[in-house]
Amino acid sequence: MFEKGLLFENDFQKQLKSQFYNVDADPTFGERIFFENSGGSLRLKACVEKKAEIEAFPDCPERIHARSLYLKGLVETGTKEILEIIFGAKSGALMTELTASQTMFQLVGIIMENVPGKNAVVSSIEHPSAYDAIEYYCNKTGREMRVVPANTKTGGIDVDEVIKLVDKDTALLSIMSASNISGNIMDIKEIVRRAREIKPDLFIISDMVQHAPHCAMDVDELGLDGANFAPYKFFGLRGCGFCYVSDRVAKFPHHKLLAKPQEVFELGTSAPANFAAVMEIINYVCSIGEHYIGKKSRKETYREGMRRIHLQERALLYRLLEGTDEVKGLRHIDGVTVYVDTEDITQKDLIIAMGIDGVDFTKTVAEYQKRGVTVYERINTSIYSKRIVEAIGIEGAIRVSPLHCHGVEDIDKFLKITAQMVEDFKNN
Ligand SMILES: Cc1ncc(COP(=O)(O)O)c(C=O)c1O
Repeated sequence: MFEKGLLFENDFQKQLKSQFYNVDADPTFGERIFFENSGGSLRLKACVEKKAEIEAFPDCPERIHARSLYLKGLVETGTKEILEIIFGAKSGALMTELTASQTMFQLVGIIMENVPGKNAVVSSIEHPSAYDAIEYYCNKTGREMRVVPANTKTGGIDVDEVIKLVDKDTALLSIMSASNISGNIMDIKEIVRRAREIKPDLFIISDMVQHAPHCAMDVDELGLDGANFAPYKFFGLRGCGFCYVSDRVAKFPHHKLLAKPQEVFELGTSAPANFAAVMEIINYVCSIGEHYIGKKSRKETYREGMRRIHLQERALLYRLLEGTDEVKGLRHIDGVTVYVDTEDITQKDLIIAMGIDGVDFTKTVAEYQKRGVTVYERINTSIYSKRIVEAIGIEGAIRVSPLHCHGVEDIDKFLKITAQMVEDFKNN
């Protein structure tokens, strides 16, 4: 259904856009189209304001005073909502760190140091946080590291390829939910189902940093033991990473204060403002859901909000690729190549990996910048992307990642700038 997506109504999209800061212009550096949301997304005003409001109070959340209790309540409600609504978990624990990468290293470490087995399986297109954590703990615990090759046509990971590497001796399987380079969405449900046919109690985790801002997560339905996200890629703020930990993982020995219950991962005083800011993300997504299905439970409106975000983004993706009668899409501009492009875009987040034929990626990014477009290159000379771009068979790519709050006029503007830029490159 909705293979080509479904746009928000025009007025509604504009109203959503107005809830983000600095969408169309940087106050110092001028007008710009910000299509670099995979590197850090546009910020919801409500998140930034809530964070500032809460940070203004010095009270320790562990005291009995009214403000302290209020702050403590934010952490408690925030923990419950992040687990239940964002992760879709009825049980389990929440781990917080300064970054999503830190949560991934912790999670991998706890599982690898406590689960018997001879190998661990990870995909070749993981962000370094998951890939390097697996390599580090394979070395530390004397396990074989098995790396699943990518499908160079789709830019994703095929279920069959994962299954070839999993056996009864696999201690941990880690596959990201969506690629931050190609936008490809992995079939985690099928991966989990088939991997557990081989080893029913296999520990399986997924990096959800890329996918969480584009689609509702459901760790219970997927049967995962761990998953994480980063608010700064999810309309929120830098400086924290959140991770779901299943009950059976929470039971393993982990860093904690001895007097605290087993499922508590927090070390030291919590940061109520971070939880309050994430609840603003949830409020925002729920408001989109409510616009379409009216007042329902927060979980239902959140899911509907995410479904609508996903459909809006698919429609924007389709327009980027195909264009309109008036404006050529990327697939049709002579001199532009869309990498790992697939006819079916229902298994993609709103990310395009593209290049301009014969033009260096870094030069292209700089030229876009001059023309008021912020995008970024992912290339094989960067420590963050070398392994990944090579795994999908390319030297690099310009990553184009708009957000659901953008409108078709932003896409058309970008397409026109791209077509003109290609012409100018040809003529110089
Ligand atoms: C897919 C994916 N996983 C993990 C991370 C790491 O997030 P953080 O910077 O919060 O550690 C990123 C950041 O780029 C990412 O794109």
